[in-house]
Amino acid sequence: MKALVLCGGHGTRLRPITHTSAKQLVPIANKPVLYYGLEALRDAGIEDVGIIVGDTAAEVRRAVGDGSGFGLRVTYIEQEAPLGLAHAVLIARDYLGDDDFVMYLGDNFLVDGLTEVVDRFRATRPDVQIMLTPVADPSQFGVAELDADGRLVRVEEKPRSPRSDLAIMGIYLFTPVVHEAVRSIKPDPRGELEITTAIEWLLEHDARITSHIVHGYWKDTGRVEDMLECNRLVLEDLETRVEGHVDERTDVVGRVVVEEGARISGSRLVGPLIIGADAVIKDSYVGPFTSIGPDCLLADTEVEFSIVMERSSVLGVRRLRDSLIGKDVAIKPASVTSTAHQLVLGDHSQVRIA
Ligand code: DAU
Repeated sequence: MKALVLCGGHGTRLRPITHTSAKQLVPIANKPVLYYGLEALRDAGIEDVGIIVGDTAAEVRRAVGDGSGFGLRVTYIEQEAPLGLAHAVLIARDYLGDDDFVMYLGDNFLVDGLTEVVDRFRATRPDVQIMLTPVADPSQFGVAELDADGRLVRVEEKPRSPRSDLAIMGIYLFTPVVHEAVRSIKPDPRGELEITTAIEWLLEHDARITSHIVHGYWKDTGRVEDMLECNRLVLEDLETRVEGHVDERTDVVGRVVVEEGARISGSRLVGPLIIGADAVIKDSYVGPFTSIGPDCLLADTEVEFSIVMERSSVLGVRRLRDSLIGKDVAIKPASVTSTAHQLVLGDHSQVRIA
């Protein structure tokens, strides 16, 4: 059994972060979201992974390499444009051959891993196995309708009037019958070949499709608030580990990770939180559910419930909360004589000034 991991696409809902980075590489507790998926696939006994890449191919390749770091054999498959999830299956035909496979959307985050799901598929081997979960805003997802016996009767992609609250999660298990479906369907009005349309085609052609409702934790990390929530969730399970230097003037409350080379002085750390390697925190407060990336500098600053990515600096700011700060960002006070804010922001940036 192989896996097909989708890391193409544009990530418009995570702008401006995704102007320069792949959304699958945004860090959760200082680890790219994609790594959690690759580790879960490996733990489920999968060794061969095809990764679909688009505009951000170079960055994904740099982050994952040949996969050996994860105990996987990774093959990259270039998609010329994000033409849809079924298009990704279409172009992976040669790589997948006649193997069964898990299709995993690289921006999905699943707490309970994949072992049980993959084992169940192996044991029962339906043509298709999908996973469903109740959500508050089903029109943002593929939506499944079940009959009174819990059998799947219909799927629809981002319907205006959803027939249920059951979202299709970004983890699909397929036998090779899916290949005929993706060859047979037509693109949606936006020009995308939707996997939901392929599943609908298979339903109409009497394929055996099983669906399982999952109540554990799952998120499509497409939006900033989802990223921050996943970050909170992972930090919740953090165990204290201090490898960097924390001086005697610093107060530490709760569970914290301070990576090697990090230096904390005259500060207050209230966990759960993680401080990346070689970061410097001076005279600052870092509050709960915060991930500070490697090589960051915080001085005379307060930050909580936030993700700050590598090499960014935050100086003299009280207080940052619920924020997602990209790489190499500099936040600092204006000159002492000025009462005005001075901003240099990329396209699609969002700033809320208190
Ligand atoms: O997250 C679950 C949802 O994922 C499902 O409920 C929907 O039925 C399914 O269509 C999909 O919807 P999204 O709008 O979330 O898909 P998105 O465009 O965000 O793409 C999902 C992942 O696949 C993302 O990591 C980017 C990658 N991708 C996407 C497209 C369209 C590709 O690699 N190639 C593509 O052509």
